[in-house]
Amino acid sequence: MSTIPGYTYATSALAASPVTLADFEQMKASVLFGDEDVKYLRMSHDVVQDHVEAILDVWYGFVGSQPHLLASFSGKSDGRPLGDYLGAVRKRFGQWILDTARADYGQKWLDYQHEIGLRHHRVKKNMTDGAPSTELVPFRNLFALIFPVTFTLRPFLAKKGHSAEDVEKMYAAWVKSCLLQVTLWSHPYIKPGDF
Ligand code: HEM
Repeated sequence: MSTIPGYTYATSALAASPVTLADFEQMKASVLFGDEDVKYLRMSHDVVQDHVEAILDVWYGFVGSQPHLLASFSGKSDGRPLGDYLGAVRKRFGQWILDTARADYGQKWLDYQHEIGLRHHRVKKNMTDGAPSTELVPFRNLFALIFPVTFTLRPFLAKKGHSAEDVEKMYAAWVKSCLLQVTLWSHPYIKPGDF
């Protein structure tokens, strides 16, 4: 059992995703995601689990170096970075790295994807940690972050001596997984009926 505060994967606290597993199968086909990608994500699990903190240092360094991104982790009234909020989210982010590499897709996974989307949107942002922060992660930054997140992950994928081909395939699987996940997270931002 996880003891990470606010990590509610597979708990009864979660609402059902409005996206069905059948929809998700189509999304996978759209991004050319197949069994081989599952295999390579799972291959990456062993690699990334040794480097979770170092990966988070890079990603947090990227967000922290850009005021317009750091704003989403800062006080709504004074604009100062909220250390407790950053720290609490970081623990769940670390778990997310492992969950992404586990690539275990089912209804509970889909429901938690929806929850993560709500937590970026004003519907649920700040609620998990009681943070006095801004009310919304602006949509314009969500997709763009897929590139720095995956590109900076790439050197870590090579740290366990896999062949260049395996590293490339792990990297491609991560890119596809992040595209799928951030698309799922976009649901609350999209006009009803348009997802
Ligand atoms: C929360 C990943 C884009 C700001 C989270 C969490 C994850 C995550 C895993 C924790 C979810 C949980 O509670 O279990 C990602 C990924 C992104 C992305 C993979 C893009 C590829 C962004 C962007 C921002 C952002 C662009 C804006 C700077 C936040 C904030 C939270 C959060 C503020 C906490 C939300 C809350 O109050 O619960 N993100 N994120 N994220 N992310 Fe992102």
